[in-house]
Amino acid sequence: MFKEDLFSKSARKNLETDLSTAHAIVEATNNVYHKIDNPDGVLNLGVAVNKLQEDLVLQKDLDYGDPIGSSELRDNISKVINRHFNPYKDISLDDIVVVNGITSGLDKIASVLCDPGDAILIPTPCYSSFELDFYLQAKANVQFVPIPLHDFNSANQVSYYEKKLKELTQLNIKVKLIVICNPNNPLGVCYPKPALQEILKFADQNNIFVLFDEIYALSVYRNLPCSDPLLDYSQNNDLVSDVLVPFESVLSWCDLDSFIDPNLVIVAHGLSKDFCLNGFRVGWIICPWNKSFLTSISTIGEFSYIAGIADSIVCKFLADSTFLDSFITTMQTNLLTSFEKTTSYLTSKNVPFVPGMAGSFLWINIKHQLLIWKNNNLNPNESPVLDTNQLTFDDELAMWSDILQNGRIYITSGASFHSMEPGWARIIFAIPWETLKVGLDRLFDFMAKSHSSKSL
Ligand SMILES: Cc1ncc(COP(=O)(O)O)c(C=O)c1O
Repeated sequence: MFKEDLFSKSARKNLETDLSTAHAIVEATNNVYHKIDNPDGVLNLGVAVNKLQEDLVLQKDLDYGDPIGSSELRDNISKVINRHFNPYKDISLDDIVVVNGITSGLDKIASVLCDPGDAILIPTPCYSSFELDFYLQAKANVQFVPIPLHDFNSANQVSYYEKKLKELTQLNIKVKLIVICNPNNPLGVCYPKPALQEILKFADQNNIFVLFDEIYALSVYRNLPCSDPLLDYSQNNDLVSDVLVPFESVLSWCDLDSFIDPNLVIVAHGLSKDFCLNGFRVGWIICPWNKSFLTSISTIGEFSYIAGIADSIVCKFLADSTFLDSFITTMQTNLLTSFEKTTSYLTSKNVPFVPGMAGSFLWINIKHQLLIWKNNNLNPNESPVLDTNQLTFDDELAMWSDILQNGRIYITSGASFHSMEPGWARIIFAIPWETLKVGLDRLFDFMAKSHSSKSL
């Protein structure tokens, strides 16, 4: 039996709050009286809305709407999940809370689980905004768990979490959540199940929630029937073997409860990546197991939920399964084509990269370019750097800033993803080749030749 004492004090208090008025408003907006179509519906004489000009406005779409997403929208989302995530048990609309983007969802999750100062463990390299998303409002204490690239596929990576938990326990810091981004941003690879099983067992033993950020679940391109599985990228890097672990949503695990109490498992997905609609600010949190967790998220939903008009448009967008199926296939095929062009380019420049299979990015190693740039841009009192091992994160950030200011190319530096060593970067390859080629040429020419104004 799940006990809410794992939630933050604030979330527990919220659960005791009398929400009857909020529920009544939702009922009144979801079941509106109509003389002919719905004579038994609720006559809404409670919500302070001026309906006298109703014929002049777009009616339903401009009403307050439901803070957790209309039932129609959540039903359509559940159909997308059931069609594309292969869930073990069908997901229903009641297993879903819609949020205004996963960024906002992460803040809500932190606020429900963490009192200020409680820790969230995030394996690195990781999506650069996690730290602020969990900290800025909820004041959760983000603790990075550096995982060497060669351990990404290994079940032994749990030992890094164990060590971090020990350190934090000695400091009297409670760990409330582990965040697993699968498929991973920035690596573009998926976690092997044995590695996840060990992490889940560890979380279960220590009463820690696990959030699966599956925002790139449908942007998996390299296990397509048309992809060439024989292309082996292993020689391209000495760090990660090209094993092509297929993506499996945690929702699809029939044996989840052999590793963890499912009450501790949360899934996040949304429109931003897999549907290329980041401006809509629509995401969803799925938790078929723990209803009080979803209720806790709903209670704070009122502060920031999606506009009725977005609800209505997204609802129509997700209802068209024929369109969506072909959209997803086209998107994955385009990603694969762009990935192949970009990796051929990188290979021609001898740039190692993690052979990704999902997402719109590549994690590339530019430490040799950084060494050349560094020696071209030494401060007057600095001696030449002879080995890539001597490079620092300050060097990386200085080159990154020079690339942006003077090269006019924006890439993301490895440091912002909390990379373990300097010299990594994430580049986006989901850009038409014509433009991407200009960007790559400009980037590699700049790193080879640049002398910033401070150089001798
Ligand atoms: C792993 C990951 N999670 C969450 C987000 C934020 O998503 P949203 O646009 O829904 O706020 C991003 C965006 O880049 C991301 O890469």
